[in-house]
Amino acid sequence: MNILIFDGDEKLNEAAANIIAGLIQTKPRAVLGLATGGTPVGIYRHLVSDFKLGMFSFKEVTTFNLDEYAGLPADHPESYYAYMRRNLFDHIDIQPFQTHLPNGKAPDAEEECRRYDELIDKAGQLDLQLLGLGHNGHIGFNEPGDELIGGTHVTELAEATREANARYFQSLDEVPTRALTMGVGTILKAKMILLVVKGADKADIVKRALQGPITTKCPGSLLQTHPNLVVLLDQAAAEKL
Ligand code: GLP
Repeated sequence: MNILIFDGDEKLNEAAANIIAGLIQTKPRAVLGLATGGTPVGIYRHLVSDFKLGMFSFKEVTTFNLDEYAGLPADHPESYYAYMRRNLFDHIDIQPFQTHLPNGKAPDAEEECRRYDELIDKAGQLDLQLLGLGHNGHIGFNEPGDELIGGTHVTELAEATREANARYFQSLDEVPTRALTMGVGTILKAKMILLVVKGADKADIVKRALQGPITTKCPGSLLQTHPNLVVLLDQAAAEKL
């Protein structure tokens, strides 16, 4: 694993954006796994401004997002679909039909998970998977537990995860209790994983994930097994390493 530590948010965002941009420049038909949450917002902002400078095109890029809340319609402002449009897709030349997220409102969620896995399989291997890390070690919405699931599946959100994400909703009650998420098998099959973590509140979980035992109790720890893991941290998130 390659760990890079940055002094300042902007430098970290720029470095992450440069890695993604470099991939698209060398492989215009790249297949990207994308993440949501607070962490990648600045990375997407950098990518959009580099795109506007004409540095590369997303025209042939295909994307798959990690997850979506179950029960939220795509046009709900806190759906991950709305997040992706707001932070990235609406500002670049990507073809909408080449952007994919699980449909949180699918009438048959299990069937939707199968459909999503088939789409990922058809696209071939993910060239890069961008990841954040939850305070409890979750990646995507793969929550800590006795076992983890390989493919896309419906999952119950941990109470801590709902509480962490309540800041985006009017109240905790509005935060969905379930989500559709890519499984750890799909994530680990990506050719490269770019894990980005910021903030002192994540320092303990960064240590557990990167230097603790590999365990389903901390899904992020499975990343230690990946042959091409690049970790970008700010100094606060790295302080316990
Ligand atoms: C969310 C997402 C994850 C994200 C994580 C951390 O709930 N499902 O993909 O990486 O939690 O989010 P944040 O970057 O806001 O701390």
